[in-house]
Amino acid sequence: MSRDGNRDLIIATRHGFHGKKGLAGAVTGSEKDKDRDPRVKFVSFPMEECDDMTKYGQDVDLSGYQDELDALWKEFGSRLNCLITEPYLGGGGSYHPPVAYMKILEAFCNEHDILLIFDEVQANFGRTGCMYAFEKYEITPDFVCMGKGLGNGVPVSATVGRGDIMRNMGYGATSDTWSANPLACASVLATLDEFENSDVMENTSKLSKIFFEGLKKLKETKVISKVRGEGMVFGIECADVGNLKSTDVANKIVETCYLGLPGEDGIHLLGPLAGNVLRVSPPMTMTEQEARVSLELFYKFINSLNN
Ligand SMILES: Cc1ncc(COP(=O)(O)O)c(C=O)c1O
Repeated sequence: MSRDGNRDLIIATRHGFHGKKGLAGAVTGSEKDKDRDPRVKFVSFPMEECDDMTKYGQDVDLSGYQDELDALWKEFGSRLNCLITEPYLGGGGSYHPPVAYMKILEAFCNEHDILLIFDEVQANFGRTGCMYAFEKYEITPDFVCMGKGLGNGVPVSATVGRGDIMRNMGYGATSDTWSANPLACASVLATLDEFENSDVMENTSKLSKIFFEGLKKLKETKVISKVRGEGMVFGIECADVGNLKSTDVANKIVETCYLGLPGEDGIHLLGPLAGNVLRVSPPMTMTEQEARVSLELFYKFINSLNN
């Protein structure tokens, strides 16, 4: 992406999810996955340091991450073109890193003229409690990838970034069948209007506290072992229960929530992430009362695995 055609290598942070096809697939996962693209070099993303909300805000030693980057620079130098990361590992199991980690990535990129690409496809438009996750992580990426919440349900995605780099793309380089689709663009504008004219971000901030409390309480059941998240995006990690392995527990919870207990409403969850982690990513427009009722129901469903 750099103007310098000799910079042929991409750095990606491990266990990210950026898509399944082409280069997006190549920067997903880690070097251990099959059929890796040799142009992609992986560096570690904090996981152990932030695997439970009890660890949030603690001082952690991140010097190892700096060392990995420095080693890459030493080995490949100015062949390194850009670095892509997610604000938090979404598909990788909901790991929300310390702000200082992102600052290390940013400083490294600035120092070596490497472009920083922040994949906010999952995080943009308020999920992390800020309109854009890069604000939360106090960095200024060169490019931001957006999707999902961007169109509030209408399929649309976008990359926003430095004009001086974008201008180098040849005529038609980024066009395809649906690019600049008027309906999709209208959905983005309508969503932006809604953010501007409603209290959705204030509501998100209130809901976030309620969800952190409610999800933390799930640990009492012993069915949930770890809780992570920020804003209105959380991951709850399942424990082994009796003879059931944590991965089976996660699937069982999805099924129990979907079917509901007799006479109760249900809760729609996605299938587990990274084996045994359940994504909780509720609407940012729900009322506080709805949040409390659904968390109580969630507790009941999860605790029913103990019977
Ligand atoms: C952070 C992130 N980037 C990229 C993608 C891929 O988007 P798509 O499914 O549109 O290829 C996803 C999808 O879940 C995602 O979470």
